[in-house]
Amino acid sequence: MTIWDVAVMGAGAAGMMAAATAGQWGTRTILLDHADQPGRKILISGGGRCNFTNLKADWTHYRSENPRFCRSALARYRPQDFLSLVEKHRIRWHEKEEGQLFCDDSARQIVTMLEEECRAGGVRFQLGCSLGGISHDGHVFTLDTSWGPVQTRSIILATGGLAIPRLGATDFSLRMARQFGLRIVTPAPALVPFRIEDAQPELAGVSLQVTASLVGQKKPVFTGGMVFTHRGVSGPAILQISSWWEGREALRLNLAPGRDVHEDMRTICEQRPRAHAPALLDALPARLVKVLVAGKLDDRPLAEQPAKAVRALAAQVSDWVLKPTGTEGYPKAEVMRGGVDTRDLSSRTMEARTVPGLYVVGEAVDVTGWLGGYNFQWAWASGVAAGQAA
Ligand code: FDA
Repeated sequence: MTIWDVAVMGAGAAGMMAAATAGQWGTRTILLDHADQPGRKILISGGGRCNFTNLKADWTHYRSENPRFCRSALARYRPQDFLSLVEKHRIRWHEKEEGQLFCDDSARQIVTMLEEECRAGGVRFQLGCSLGGISHDGHVFTLDTSWGPVQTRSIILATGGLAIPRLGATDFSLRMARQFGLRIVTPAPALVPFRIEDAQPELAGVSLQVTASLVGQKKPVFTGGMVFTHRGVSGPAILQISSWWEGREALRLNLAPGRDVHEDMRTICEQRPRAHAPALLDALPARLVKVLVAGKLDDRPLAEQPAKAVRALAAQVSDWVLKPTGTEGYPKAEVMRGGVDTRDLSSRTMEARTVPGLYVVGEAVDVTGWLGGYNFQWAWASGVAAGQAA
């Protein structure tokens, strides 16, 4: 039976990058996936245009129990390196806000590029292939697969996290890592919408700019878009803060970021005494204003409204506390946080400290990026680190 140098489990972002790198470094590499096409999450990412990296990607844009773990791999394979690959394949791209790079045309171009890079490294694709257990005799790993046993000197676990089960997400990497004695940081859905106590369905679809944080946590604080859903809240600022939610904290929103709301309201009351309550909040969507004003200010003109009521309204706008009852879970999460504990991996190579030849990359590792291309950059960087070392 062929003994492969490297078997990569999972033909997603990190797995294809790892396989292409290993193959181009001259190793005999096989890439296995239970899906019948590679890179399914890449295909749906960034609204079909794949936000493939972020020019600002460094370790400060990731959440992990060990925040500096990702530093080494990210420093050795930078956003500019991936961009050079994109340009080598003549994929047209553009920068949206804050360093986020997207394809002009289609995310499929990124998958095709990675397939071509794998082909250039002579990588054998084994798709539609179910993976069973892995055993190790100290030198060679043997994988049980629906295509028969596969023997290899190194294994790269790259089956990602638990987000979006309908796309074939499984806990394979976590189970195998645990089997080999690696610790696991408890996984949870991240970059995920919240369900909110007493959600008001009449607000569904209302969107605005907010600053979002969690009560009891000084940091982080995210400013960006938010949208009300039928059951709660979503949008970039909400997804970002969800990655830090530990299951209990209330959500703190400033609906007028960067403004002194009370001062603004006092000025409006002075300048437009005959106006009515909505005039105080004319920068906010009308449906939301109705909900905020209800029970605080009545139909009288502003000149007749008690100063206390105006102050209470201002306080709610700049510091609105909502109680999440939970998140929308893995079916709606963009990523999983937690995963293989980085204390058990080398930050240079992603190799397990106690199991030579076993590597873990991508989302399966306890490194979770912010929204905006950071998760793919981690997938590329960790894939390259393992592919070079394996
Ligand atoms: P990934 O999930 O890409 O690949 C895992 C592979 O393993 C899959 O091919 C799967 O079929 C396979 N697999 C799983 N279990 C298996 C098993 N038991 N046996 C065999 N194969 C198995 N990030 C970003 O930076 N920019 C963006 O624009 C987006 N957009 C985005 C949109 C949506 C809707 C989602 C859900 C996610 C994103 N992301 C993103 C996040 C990004 O997609 C994610 O972080 C990376 O794909 C992770 O790469 P991995 O290779 O680790 O896992």
